[in-house]
Amino acid sequence: MGKPAESSSTSWSALFGFGCFSSSHADRSGDGPGKVASAGSRPPAPPAPLLSPDDLSLSLAGSDVLAFTVEELRVATRDFSMSNFVGEGGFGPVYKGRVDERVRPGLRQPQAVAVKLLDLEGSQGHKEWLAEVIFLGQLRHPHLVKLIGYCYQDEHRLLVYEFMARGSLEKHLFKRHSASLPWSTRMRIAIGAAKGLAFLHDAAKPVIYRDFKTSNILLDSDYTAKLSDFGLAKAGPGEDETHVSTRVMGTQGYAAPEYIMTASASCSWSC
Ligand SMILES: Nc1ncnc2c1ncn2[C@@H]1O[C@H](COP(=O)(O)OP(=O)(O)OP(=O)(O)O)[C@@H](O)[C@H]1O
Ligand SMILES: [Mg+2]
Repeated sequence: MGKPAESSSTSWSALFGFGCFSSSHADRSGDGPGKVASAGSRPPAPPAPLLSPDDLSLSLAGSDVLAFTVEELRVATRDFSMSNFVGEGGFGPVYKGRVDERVRPGLRQPQAVAVKLLDLEGSQGHKEWLAEVIFLGQLRHPHLVKLIGYCYQDEHRLLVYEFMARGSLEKHLFKRHSASLPWSTRMRIAIGAAKGLAFLHDAAKPVIYRDFKTSNILLDSDYTAKLSDFGLAKAGPGEDETHVSTRVMGTQGYAAPEYIMTASASCSWSC
């Protein structure tokens, strides 16, 4: 396995910067279908200034994540053509695309991508988008899906990932017409997903993933499992802490009972 990487020692909160990560967007994802969020008694946080596109690209300096324009992603996905549509979740629709010379002249390595478009009317928002960009932009591991880039232009928020040819594990397990996966492949997928989680928990700056479920385990052409969707992820406990207190977030039926009951997350009980 390649060497797992975290690209800097800066704390997660510093990377999120400008207070935008604890902004009033903070609890929106709890409203989405199937998502859970505790009622909580905390007063709403005052609105914080949004990180500007320039500040974000500064935060990501040193990573290889690309900033795209909406126009470039239109070219990559043939204007978000329905023939490129691969599915839709709580964040918004996802399209297959290709990032090559037509999109970005001079780009050396053309590649297939999945472009996820924030549904402006949907249950998730800027906060989830930013969490995804900051976490996946900084973390590299063979069992985490690679974030190729993002688009932060006016109200538009898009994410560009490596394309995972075999889609989600959920599809393979639960779709009627999918051929059943051999047990050896299932074991390899389970071990791969566990390695992805272990990497997050053992990192110098630990990350609590909070949305571990089969639809977020993606499979590449040889069934290598990679974790996706870091919109609900949270910076884990610091060196002297055993847990972090948090609103309960995740998907109904998947969050650990101890976490739902106590609203405190540790790396061992809140995947
Ligand atoms: N990198 C990718 N490569 C290929 N397909 C992808 C990729 N990312 C997402 N998809 C597909 O796009 C669809 C929507 O995925 P998305 O992650 O937005 O929602 P979800 O995981 O189904 O639901 P939720 O909002 O609860 O996470 C799924 O079919 C998923 O397999
Ligand atoms: Mg998902």
